[in-house]
Amino acid sequence: MPLVEVHDLVKVYGKDVRAVDGVSFEVNAGEVFGFLGPNGAGKTTTIRVLVTRLEPTGGTAFVDGIDVTSDPNEVRRRIGYAAQFIGVDDDLTGGETLVLQGRLHGMSTKAAVAQADLLLEVIDLTDAAGRRAGTYSGGMRRRLDLAQALVHKPRLLFLDEPTTGLDPQNRRALWEYLRSLNEDGVTIFLTTQYLEEADALVHRLAIIDHGLIVAEGTPGELKAGIGGDAITVTLHADASLQEIADVEAVLRGLDAAHDVRAFDHSVAVYVTDGGSRIASVVRALDEAGVNPARLELSEPTLDEVFLQHTGERLRVEEVKQQRRTAMGRRRRS
Ligand SMILES: Nc1ncnc2c1ncn2[C@@H]1O[C@H](COP(=O)(O)OP(=O)(O)OP(=O)(O)O)[C@@H](O)[C@H]1O
Ligand SMILES: [Mg+2]
Repeated sequence: MPLVEVHDLVKVYGKDVRAVDGVSFEVNAGEVFGFLGPNGAGKTTTIRVLVTRLEPTGGTAFVDGIDVTSDPNEVRRRIGYAAQFIGVDDDLTGGETLVLQGRLHGMSTKAAVAQADLLLEVIDLTDAAGRRAGTYSGGMRRRLDLAQALVHKPRLLFLDEPTTGLDPQNRRALWEYLRSLNEDGVTIFLTTQYLEEADALVHRLAIIDHGLIVAEGTPGELKAGIGGDAITVTLHADASLQEIADVEAVLRGLDAAHDVRAFDHSVAVYVTDGGSRIASVVRALDEAGVNPARLELSEPTLDEVFLQHTGERLRVEEVKQQRRTAMGRRRRS
């Protein structure tokens, strides 16, 4: 039996914000399952229903065989949850925070202290354990918040963008820890905006967009679905729309092209065995009088998968800007 079973889940905010619009998926015991999507896709809404913080409008969700709407307390006992936005108490020290959390989950003081000490070590806060969380940096607070979700040793973890705001070093340390938890049998459901993270960490993932799952599979399966390597032609930053359209036409004209996609001032053509096709791409561009700024060959990445299914790139550098433009995105047919 899957550990998480979601069927036709719907969440409507107010009258007509269909944040989650009929989502079904399963998470198997022992998996790291990734939920990937652009800003406003419905990731947090889904996770909040699963951790019983939010009532769904329709559909069903079972966690460890328990209906999240009929027995929320039993669900909460079995899971750990770290929310997207950090909720640590500034007045408590890091150590006190974790011990209190353990006590709230019914652990003895001795057991809670032992587990707190272990976690402080893992999240590299041992030296700061006696300081008020209010004096911590953003990254330290994020790590403490995450540790709070782990004190009672849950077998199933829900993490909403666990590494957002961490520097690369802390992010990698956290991946290592999540991996080791998973190796010890902890099932992990996480949302992320980092494609590299999803690729490195998850066994399976679903891509959600506008409240709907648009793709699901292992990273390998999804990348294989792209249909080959990408040869990306990047034009100068001031290239006109006409020049971009010309490059698209040239690439579409190649015999080997499976697919062609444009983004900003780059155009990618997907081909089998990309290395052997570079020369013909260069020749075709040359014949068309195109003078690209850059030509790149890459194996398919989750970034490409994401672009294929959502029509957008999801790069961390772009996240801030996407936040600003998310409201303006139109629903695609
Ligand atoms: N309390 C609320 N009331 C009304 N609309 C909401 C509420 N919470 C979320 N929404 C809307 O529901 C949609 C999905 O939001 P959600 O937070 O689930 O997305 P997300 O995928 O987690 O995005 P992000 O990557 O920014 O965290 C968005 O359009 C959002 O504006
Ligand atoms: Mg969110």
